[in-house]
Amino acid sequence: MGLEVVSSAIISFSLFLLLASTTQAQSNGVFDVTKYGAGKDITEALANAWKDACASTKPSKVLIPRGTYWLRKVTIAGPCKAAIKLQVDGILQAPVDPNKLSGGDWVNFRYVDQFTLSGSGTFDGQGKVAWSKSTCHKDKNCKGLPMNMRFDFITNALVRDITTLDSKNFHVNVLGCKNLTFQHFTVRAPRESVNTDGIHIGRSTGIYIIDSKISTGDDCISVGDGTEELHITGVTCGPGHGISVGSLGKYPNEKPVSGIFVKNCTISDTTNGVRIKSWPALYGGVASNMHFEDIVMNNVQNPVIIDQVYCPWNQCSLKVLLFLLP
Ligand SMILES: *[C@@H]1O[C@H](CO)[C@@H](O)[C@H](O)[C@H]1NC(C)=O
Ligand SMILES: *[C@@H]1O[C@H](CO)[C@@H](O)[C@H](O)[C@H]1NC(C)=O
Repeated sequence: MGLEVVSSAIISFSLFLLLASTTQAQSNGVFDVTKYGAGKDITEALANAWKDACASTKPSKVLIPRGTYWLRKVTIAGPCKAAIKLQVDGILQAPVDPNKLSGGDWVNFRYVDQFTLSGSGTFDGQGKVAWSKSTCHKDKNCKGLPMNMRFDFITNALVRDITTLDSKNFHVNVLGCKNLTFQHFTVRAPRESVNTDGIHIGRSTGIYIIDSKISTGDDCISVGDGTEELHITGVTCGPGHGISVGSLGKYPNEKPVSGIFVKNCTISDTTNGVRIKSWPALYGGVASNMHFEDIVMNNVQNPVIIDQVYCPWNQCSLKVLLFLLP
């Protein structure tokens, strides 16, 4: 009898401690990672702050304040119980060694609805060393390097003001998203960096890229199969390889690309301006309803290209190519 009383007292006491720590970590719906025992490395603190915010039934915000932090591979996943924001004002640095990201990509956003990622912060992929060792520009079987950010199945979302810097591979990959806006978004990597596409989009509907600035070593924006209703407005590209639809038709069962609107953009110091590229007669595919309007080009080698026999490094069948020749 007496024992039972004691143990229930201990249970309610530890419950109280748990509640107290949660209330301490958040105030007014703001979950600050630095209140989660974050040191220089905020990986665990961010995961825990997100978990608490995501469980909140009221709109909430996870905050990474000013400062420079280390961040290892992280998955920021929903579904969450209410609208949720991640405000990044700090500089987040990825591990320099790609092997420390265990084969995946760096920051992985998945299955979040009503999501806002904003702030004056930077996702720094620290790609310099990885580019210098990359063989991907000449070897199709090279080991893929981690991308800075993935958005998989994100809906009704806004990415604002954030900077992505020196990714080891593509900066941003958008897959299976619906109604996602990038606004005042900045991508920065040097001209000589390898495979550092700015934003790659595939299998997504209603993607808006507005008033953004993309300087990189590869495509500014690349558009893969299954992209519909893509609006690119007020974007400045360069250096890099320009805005590219494709490559398309390399794989069977690709979905159509349609409703591409590129308007009021400036492309400077790039190899290409606007480009549509498809592989020669491998698999059928459809690309339609594409609009390019009010595009200013400065020092662009190939301002407009439609290349229907795209075949880098002789990766396609020579027979097919010979068949196509007159
Ligand atoms: C698209 O997402 C935004 C949030 O960025 C939201 O305000 C808007 O209502 C959504 N549009 C539709 C049609 O759901
Ligand atoms: C065109 O884009 C620039 C940014 O590059 C912006 O400042 C300007 O307001 C835009 N003009 C129109 C008519 O949308």
